[in-house]
Amino acid sequence: DSQEQINRIYKIKKYFGNKILLVAHHYQKDEIVQFADATGDSLKLAQIAASNKTAKKIIFCGVTFMAETADILTDDSQDVILPDPTAGCSLADMANSFQVTKAWRYLKDKYGSDIMPITYVNSSSAIKSFVGKHNGVVVTSGNAMKVIKWALQRSKYLFFLPDQNLGRNISLQLGISPDEIALWKPLSEEFIASNSEKIKIILWDGYCSVHQQFNVNQISQLRKTYPEIKVIVHPECTNEVVNAADEVGSTEAIIDYIQQSPLGSRIAVGTDNNLVSRLQHIFPEKQVMLLNPIACSCVLMNRIDLPHLALTMDNLMNRPEELNIVKVNQETSHFAKVALDKMLNLS
Ligand code: 13P
Ligand code: SF4
Repeated sequence: DSQEQINRIYKIKKYFGNKILLVAHHYQKDEIVQFADATGDSLKLAQIAASNKTAKKIIFCGVTFMAETADILTDDSQDVILPDPTAGCSLADMANSFQVTKAWRYLKDKYGSDIMPITYVNSSSAIKSFVGKHNGVVVTSGNAMKVIKWALQRSKYLFFLPDQNLGRNISLQLGISPDEIALWKPLSEEFIASNSEKIKIILWDGYCSVHQQFNVNQISQLRKTYPEIKVIVHPECTNEVVNAADEVGSTEAIIDYIQQSPLGSRIAVGTDNNLVSRLQHIFPEKQVMLLNPIACSCVLMNRIDLPHLALTMDNLMNRPEELNIVKVNQETSHFAKVALDKMLNLS
């Protein structure tokens, strides 16, 4: 039963001591977070893993692209373990190398050396590697503003992968006008061609299935009932939602915002509900609300659950050959690290 699994996880964790490190993304369920040596956003967790030289096994409770990023940033003697190999990210899966390379050929033909590829960290290691190979850079939701600003000082045109919402939101916040932003679709090549003078930002047509469940109507309904309410949303939400909210921020920024809000404030949050529910418990003296209470939790993140973690810990102890070790091949890792390091040097 679950109490037995909890006891087993604590026991094996204690046995290995600082030879293992267990990290959990903010969107993980409480049943996993309770065991975490560190929680954080995807980048923070990868950096924690990379700076820890005593832990040879890193149990990464998050999704594949995060575990891959951790593997790329850690050294070869460290193994990154994802407790369920099927914990992917539907947004990252929306851009595959074949389609992206095809689009890039067209765009390079059109814009020559004036275009730079940029990818959100929520992408496969192959896409990060592609971006690194073509002198581009990675961004996270926390540093996207700074990095895109830097990129625009160096390159006239940007090809932003894979999240159109983050790309659009940040570009608009940087003063780019809507008609300077185009969505890449194979059938819209003619559109891009005819407007090529104006267009500065070409967005990949990806989005997060969790964050697209927030809409302007939910915000206006809440404002009607609670006129004093503040609304904060993740930049993976659509631009309409971001405009209707009071604040926009990454998972770390959302936590900081609630922490700094005065006692008694009422705040609705538009991001994964595992995180929002946890914030409700951490800050009982503030009225933290779910912007959309129905099903806004990442099903892929939720694949890491108590049984999967218990099995992973068991395997660590008794069947190490059964562990799901995430290893990015050397060539892919090399160029992906080039793009990641560029971002880390900037932020
Ligand atoms: P962070 O990079 O803020 O952790 O966000 C990851 C994510 O998956 C958001 O949906
Ligand atoms: Fe991917 Fe969205 Fe889940 Fe984040 S919340 S891991 S972007 S599907």
